[in-house]
Amino acid sequence: MRVTFRLVVSIVLAAAAVSAGWTFFSARAERARLIDELDHRGSLLAEGLREAAEPLAKRADAKALERIAGRFGGRERLRGVSLHRPDGTAVAATSGLPPTAPPPREGRPFDCGLLDDGSLHRCTAPLEESPGFIAVFHGAAHVEAGVREVWRRGFMRLLTQVLLMSAITLWIVHLDVLAPIERTVEWMRLLRAGEDPGPAPPQGSVLGPLAREATKLARSLETARAAAEEEARLRHAGHALWTPERLKEHTKDRLRGKPMIVVANREPYLHVRKDGAVTVLRPASGLVAGVEPILKACGGTWVAHGAGDADRETVDSSDRVRVPPEEPRYSLRRVWLTREQEEGYYYGFANEGLWPLCHIAHARPQFREQDWKQYHAVNRLFADAVLTEIEGVEEPCVLIQDYHFALLPRMIKEARPDARVSLFWHIPWPNPEAFGICPWQREILDGMLGADVVGFHIQYHCNNFLETVDRALECRIDWERFAVRRGGHATLVKPYPISVALEENAGPPPSKEELLRSIGARGTLLVLGVDRLDYTKGILERFLAVERFLEDNPAYVGRFVFVELGAPSRTTIPRYRDFVEEVKREALRINARFDTKDTRGWRPIVLAVGHHERTEVARWYRVADACVVTSLHDGMNLVAKEYVASDREEPGTLILSRFTGASRELRDALIVNPYDVERVAAALRQAIEMEPEERRRRWESMREAVREHNIYRWGARLVDDLSRARPAGAAST
Ligand code: F6P
Repeated sequence: MRVTFRLVVSIVLAAAAVSAGWTFFSARAERARLIDELDHRGSLLAEGLREAAEPLAKRADAKALERIAGRFGGRERLRGVSLHRPDGTAVAATSGLPPTAPPPREGRPFDCGLLDDGSLHRCTAPLEESPGFIAVFHGAAHVEAGVREVWRRGFMRLLTQVLLMSAITLWIVHLDVLAPIERTVEWMRLLRAGEDPGPAPPQGSVLGPLAREATKLARSLETARAAAEEEARLRHAGHALWTPERLKEHTKDRLRGKPMIVVANREPYLHVRKDGAVTVLRPASGLVAGVEPILKACGGTWVAHGAGDADRETVDSSDRVRVPPEEPRYSLRRVWLTREQEEGYYYGFANEGLWPLCHIAHARPQFREQDWKQYHAVNRLFADAVLTEIEGVEEPCVLIQDYHFALLPRMIKEARPDARVSLFWHIPWPNPEAFGICPWQREILDGMLGADVVGFHIQYHCNNFLETVDRALECRIDWERFAVRRGGHATLVKPYPISVALEENAGPPPSKEELLRSIGARGTLLVLGVDRLDYTKGILERFLAVERFLEDNPAYVGRFVFVELGAPSRTTIPRYRDFVEEVKREALRINARFDTKDTRGWRPIVLAVGHHERTEVARWYRVADACVVTSLHDGMNLVAKEYVASDREEPGTLILSRFTGASRELRDALIVNPYDVERVAAALRQAIEMEPEERRRRWESMREAVREHNIYRWGARLVDDLSRARPAGAAST
């Protein structure tokens, strides 16, 4: 209240000062204007009368003077005329005038001015032929009255302004400051008391930034409290669940405080220009979803290709930027690639060569000498960046991600034998015959074996890798320990099934109807697919299954809707571009088949092609009745785990391809062969019609699997094995 009072008083004082100043100058100008007007009139009349009145001065003929003045009697405000000797005494004057008047000042043809009390105005002019002067008098009371009127109007204006401004100020202060503060205070009070505070206060007012910060603070407190409660619960239950806090402490201990360096081609945050402004984009990437929580928990540096069109504008002089943008926890170091490098290394060798080579999904790998050279050159570029990052750090710890960097482990080790290096391969590894068609298989394997630890999602891929090494290189395979020994160096080859963090206490779920409406979809039974638009994901097979399901179960026409959130990916590669078109065509064909006059406005398949923010995808997971993952071949597939990890009010059902790594852990999903359209269609029906009890049992078992084998456990196991490695010259740990 005191603030409001001070604000209103300040406004009143400021308005009064401005208004008083303005009125003062207006009054002064009005006074000068009115006197000027009298001066003008008086001097004109004195001039006009002077000749006629001059003879009367000699005769001191007041009567005649009265007559002459009478002729001007109609003139406004004229009070009279008098004739004077040089000393000022009147020789003749019309009645009611003062007996004397001061003679005109030297050098002025007319001397005009107000008399002392301001009620009369006098203008004098010297006579021409005889000594003395003539004086003309006008009433001047209107001058002060005019000035008073200006002040009166000024005051009224001030009063109106002050009233209006105070009312508006009070209204705005109440609406935009006091009410939001009251609401925010109440919201935070409930939060502090551990009660349900409802939705966070609106962010749009002037207090928006403050409310945003307060909301974040409150949410952090809430998360910390939940984490502490969870820890206490687990300690009580004798469980050993991995949490961000536990991983942080564990990593600090195992790496003896050394910073963690992660290398991955894809950056977790891209800065891009949109409508002239720089915005942040989180890519659709299982790798990012999996690895980022580790860096958020432990800190460190992520070295990646700077691929956003505004990336260069947002880094410092060392090409670094702190992320996440809303709450920085670690550094992102960007490496710049030329168009040719990106073409050869990323699109060419990595995605047209290694990607189809490792995925058995019926795409022929393309191996081009030029792409291989670029792949080599870019691996060298990243090696230089990493070496700068680890300069001066003894026994640094470098976690390399994926098939983009098969040569990097060796390059780093050659320069820094004391470094502890791991390489995690996020995609499958095929059998030795399949891999053997790669013209540079020996160089790739040699590069990978520079690492102390090579990880895959499942044991099967480790076995394939070890067999490939066994056939291609001179080395000793220790099948008991799953290690490769070569030239005095050992590489441990182990499965580390990647995962996600369980989402808990996410607040009230969104409305399914609203989400569906937002993309123009209709239906009550929502089945979801979330993928990069990649030919390995089995999206066309999934569409065929939806078609078959509706053919076999017409009762669901109009009620069932399949939403595919598809993110375009690697679209420079013709195979991917064609695939997007194929997916769109297939959705159109199936939708057209079911478009009858009874189903107007309903489509069985709603394909939302575009970038979908993680927060948006998370909202869909929370309301979808079932999620379908039908990859033809996949290292792990984190979409399956993200769906299971989502905080839902009711359990959902997961339909999962047996060719994903995830199917080894999520045994209570409905496991399908995606090539078997009939079986997937039957699984759709089974998912929808499942008894609630069975649905809950399966859901809880899958959630338990993700809870226990979460991403923090993945990080901890990798760090553990890496810390046990014995790089050249390393102190024993
Ligand atoms: O699945 C392999 C993988 O590299 C993931 O690790 C990553 O999430 C995904 O492909 C995304 O690919 P890109 O970075 O080429 O868009």
